[in-house]
Amino acid sequence: MVYQVYPRSFQDSNGDGIGDLQGLIQRLDYLEKLGIGAIWLSPVYQSPNDDNGYDISDYEQIMAEFGTMADMEQLIKEADKRGIKIIMDLVVNHTSDEHPWFIESRSSKDNPYRDFYIWREGIDGQAPNDLESTFLGSAWQLDTHTGDYYLHLFSKKQPDLNWENAAVRKAVYDMMNFWIDKGIGGFRMDVIDLVGKIPDQKITGNGPKLHDYLQEMNAATFGGKDLLTVGETWGATPEIAKLYSDPKRHELSMVFQFEHVALDEQPGKSKWDLRPLVISELKNVFSKWQTELGNQGWNSLFWNNHDLPRIVSRWGNDRDYRVQSGKMLAILLHMLKGTPYIYQGEEIGMTNRVITDISEAADIESKNMYADRLEKGYAKEDILLSINAKGRDNARTPMQWDSSKHAGFTTGTPWLAVNQNYPEINVAQALEDTNSLFYTYQQLITLRKKYPLIVWGTFELLTDTTEEIFAYYRHYKEESWLIVCNFSDQEQPFSLDINAEQTIIANTDKEYHSLLNRTLDPYEAFVVTLGGNLDA
Ligand code: GLC
Ligand code: CA
Repeated sequence: MVYQVYPRSFQDSNGDGIGDLQGLIQRLDYLEKLGIGAIWLSPVYQSPNDDNGYDISDYEQIMAEFGTMADMEQLIKEADKRGIKIIMDLVVNHTSDEHPWFIESRSSKDNPYRDFYIWREGIDGQAPNDLESTFLGSAWQLDTHTGDYYLHLFSKKQPDLNWENAAVRKAVYDMMNFWIDKGIGGFRMDVIDLVGKIPDQKITGNGPKLHDYLQEMNAATFGGKDLLTVGETWGATPEIAKLYSDPKRHELSMVFQFEHVALDEQPGKSKWDLRPLVISELKNVFSKWQTELGNQGWNSLFWNNHDLPRIVSRWGNDRDYRVQSGKMLAILLHMLKGTPYIYQGEEIGMTNRVITDISEAADIESKNMYADRLEKGYAKEDILLSINAKGRDNARTPMQWDSSKHAGFTTGTPWLAVNQNYPEINVAQALEDTNSLFYTYQQLITLRKKYPLIVWGTFELLTDTTEEIFAYYRHYKEESWLIVCNFSDQEQPFSLDINAEQTIIANTDKEYHSLLNRTLDPYEAFVVTLGGNLDA
């Protein structure tokens, strides 16, 4: 069970408004109480923060705002004492343009570091081709000093490393071993699907040498060690996911795939082009991943991360059923097969925040999109609607610890404003209320540790329900469990001619013996054991 910490927004310890490593250390007891086994720590390396740490200028130094290497070592030790491993964010598709490798690389065409990055000549004074950056605009930037273009699939300040250069790969592996020697528990690999790119053919994701590189990396670094590795793999299908995560192939422990995340965007367009979620599509996507990986691949389970909007606002209901829908979403996800990830604040049902002007946005992705769409003639209101629904700042507002000023996140001025609902939604409140979402998450973590069925059981979707009910079985040896979730704010009929044995978890006080002719409350969710019932 992994918990993601976005350090800038977790806990500030020195009043500068920016979360830091000492702040995180102060909150380890809270995370131990929740029951997690590992922290995925978003980047804490030295960085000019063009993309909040995903632009690294020194992989072996800690960002001064976050603390020192001594703080980092203390964090690893203190977490270890509580049975928690630290998973580092490995951002090696690109560096910052302020990394010494890039400073050397751009200095002259015959510099030894020139080939650490991807340089091309322009064609008739234009970029080599029309590849686009994820953060919009051309992916090629002219560097007037030598007159060539360099590739940046993200911001201009994030030049792409040239993975075809064996010296680059070696430098990356050495750096990984530096961290492994410090006692970390693994790596989350940022946009790792891109490192096999062939920019001249406009191939970016899933390039032909990608898996060779990962096997080489495995052998040179974490292979044979007890470390967790998870690749951020956009565009993965179950077949592709097996390439990454089949243990026999010696690549990664598991993938993050994003198929479900794209379900509320207009097909073929971008995440900003909104459409409502169709629940049957969500069922299909989850069923596909649950069944097609078999035992040859391993998946992650997540609703949230630092790039995604808050799930209770997105697919739950943060006005009338915040806690109830939050519990339903948690139960639905955590009863599936795979490794669950919880993003900071998800366990207390933190919500999206609403901005009314672009000046309130901090994220480069939202700001670039705003400028781009304004220029293309979109209405301001529509652009803000998209940002409020999908912008990455939604996940990045400071963690809400208590009802004191700035939610107990900082004694200073937070780098990004705290969500105004912090007096009601905060950790102190959640810990006091035995009915809170926090205890549902805590219970789900405990259940997974206790029951191999949750880890290993096979999945079977129940198709004979209303569209709004997402129900499935898990089968393991002689046992079967039934998971039933009302994915809507309306009552739903549900009927099954089976008697349940025992209730494992539910978000109501109801009794679940007979499942015949029931009416489910909005967002009702329950998990029951069926014993040998199903064979009858
Ligand atoms: C990944 C990260 C995101 C970052 C991008 C570039 O998608 O999750 O936050 O902006 O890579 O590093
Ligand atoms: Ca601080």
